[in-house]
Amino acid sequence: MIDQETIQRIMDSARIVDVIGQFVSLKKRGANHIGCCPFHNEKTPSFYVSDAKGIFKCFGCGEAGDVVKFLMKHEHYTYPEALRWLAEKYHIEIHEEEMSDEQRERQNERDGLFHVSEFAQKYFADLLYNDEMGRAIGLSYFHQRGLSDEIIKRFGLGYCLEDWSNFTDHALHNGYSEAVLEKTGLTIVKEDTGKKYDRFRGRVMFPIYSISGRVLGFSGRILSSEKQAAKYVNSPDSDIYNKSRILYGLYQARQAIAKADKCYLVEGNVDVISMHQSGVENTVASCGTSLTIEQIRLIKRYTQNVTVLYDGDKAGIKAALRAIDLLFAEGMHVRVTLFPDGEDPDSYAQKYGSTALQDFLSTHEDNFVLYKTRVLLDSVKDDPIRRAGLLTETARTIALVTDLMERQEYIRQCSYLLKVSEDVLTHEVSKAINLNREKAYTAKSESTISTVEPSSPVEGGATENAAPEPVSEPVNQALQPPIESERHLVQLLINHGDAMIRQTFKAEDGTEQESEYSVAQIIISDLRNDQLSFTDPLCQRIYEQCSLMLDMGGHIDLQRFLSSDDKQLRSFVAGLMVDTYSVSDSWMKLKQIHVPKIEENLKQDLTDTLYTFKRLRLMQMVRSLNDQLRGADETRQLQLLTEIKYYSDLARTLGQALGQVISPRFN
Ligand code: CTP
Ligand code: MN
Repeated sequence: MIDQETIQRIMDSARIVDVIGQFVSLKKRGANHIGCCPFHNEKTPSFYVSDAKGIFKCFGCGEAGDVVKFLMKHEHYTYPEALRWLAEKYHIEIHEEEMSDEQRERQNERDGLFHVSEFAQKYFADLLYNDEMGRAIGLSYFHQRGLSDEIIKRFGLGYCLEDWSNFTDHALHNGYSEAVLEKTGLTIVKEDTGKKYDRFRGRVMFPIYSISGRVLGFSGRILSSEKQAAKYVNSPDSDIYNKSRILYGLYQARQAIAKADKCYLVEGNVDVISMHQSGVENTVASCGTSLTIEQIRLIKRYTQNVTVLYDGDKAGIKAALRAIDLLFAEGMHVRVTLFPDGEDPDSYAQKYGSTALQDFLSTHEDNFVLYKTRVLLDSVKDDPIRRAGLLTETARTIALVTDLMERQEYIRQCSYLLKVSEDVLTHEVSKAINLNREKAYTAKSESTISTVEPSSPVEGGATENAAPEPVSEPVNQALQPPIESERHLVQLLINHGDAMIRQTFKAEDGTEQESEYSVAQIIISDLRNDQLSFTDPLCQRIYEQCSLMLDMGGHIDLQRFLSSDDKQLRSFVAGLMVDTYSVSDSWMKLKQIHVPKIEENLKQDLTDTLYTFKRLRLMQMVRSLNDQLRGADETRQLQLLTEIKYYSDLARTLGQALGQVISPRFN
């Protein structure tokens, strides 16, 4: 357990824009930073980060919270893991309190996997330079492939010795357990004999890093060209390694991607490294899998522009087409560069050099529509039936383009390629567009019906096959804004709850007395006195929790809300914080005050808000009593009328009190 004081120091040091900026490309807008939300699929940014308030909130999917919540959601850290991550980033020493056995066990297990992976990376990298065999075999292999020592070190490359269990023995000797070694896949334990050996023996090692630079797993390449063994062997999935959620090179590429606002996607590890060495650092690869949605979303945190660089061979083209469709469906701007048959980015760079590679890249970029059409055209040759199919297929691709001008341009170019008139292709495209609309419509109505839990389409990546952007509608419906005045009052509680306000009031002996109360104290005691509650359940919950915090003698602890497990609550509170309606703007204008005293304005605002809230509540009550009049017997009617008069009078007195300072009655 991390003690409270340390947590406080961590929270005080953490800059949320700094942290989130490491994962999401953010741009400054006014007092906030904005970017595309990493928690749902969106094309226009609705993800807000406020440094001043230490919060993030997505107005699309509603995800929100503080810096810790972000790390928990984004990196799938546990609460203590997120704190540790921050502590490390901001160089804060952690004082541990006692951990429960269960906590310690879970923590230890993941930590163990991280530790041994890092240990292995260091060991393999060390062998490459400091071991005779490592140098003779591993290092010379990398050199022979044209990699410099600098780039070898930058990517943490290494070598695993040929001996059966050299690494495993070394790790065991250093206190790592067999279980942990087996879980990371570094060690394979034979089921029948229990014999242990190294999964990567005799291979050059490519460590795979998380976005934050932790070693998660490895890819190992064989050196000999013996055909029986796989060329590459990868770490199996584990608690820390999930191949479909990792991009090779992203750790080294992420800043370059954000800076260039563009990402090159290549097929292989060595392609990534070669591109980096050639000065094209905004390059990543999906390692050992075909591209996944999760990987695309990783890229999307940094840019929406992707250029696919796949081999010109059959398999490469097929993979490229698949990647293009997937990228497009995720709202990315896709371009394609096709290498000459038999070349990949690495071989091209090695053969012709960095400058030639960069030239090639800048002159051979195709938009994906033309690329697809060319490739398909090439594959159908002169077969008339398949040619007809090609027309439909091309029309379907063009129909995906949302920009009208762009679409028109594609129609022009493709009709030329396909040797059909523009009219024919235009007709096919409109057919395809209509079909898409119908599909989207059905998908949408289905998703609305099945969405019982409003936040469900966002979490768990369930949007994969749904229509584009299906998230915002159901979510917004569920988060209907509460009555304005209730919202304002809660907003004061949240944003200024701890602010102190001086109050003068007449004491019982008739003398004027002055006292200081916090905004929260004033609001809560006032509502308690009049036994008023909120009609909006979320507002009521926040009010109750704030009351509780005050009763416990504390202050308004926003962190409690921002790190809550309840997404709706987090989202609501963060929303109130981001969108602080300026306490005094209109009031200042009205009164022509240029240098406002914050406290004075706050006081006025508090008075106005409390007044409005109460008056509306009273009027609501009067209305509901009026409704009861009908159908009530005479005695009851009399009762009701008395009550109505009471509340109406109260509302009137309140009106007279407007502008006066409220006098809180504490007991
Ligand atoms: N790959 C894999 N398992 C294999 C073959 C390939 O995981 N048996 C993955 C590797 O990440 C590899 C990528 O697919 O980098 C592309 O494979 P390929 O094009 O065959 O290899 P290259 O990247 O060209 O590898 P190299 O240049 O080292 O020969
Ligand atoms: Mn290659």
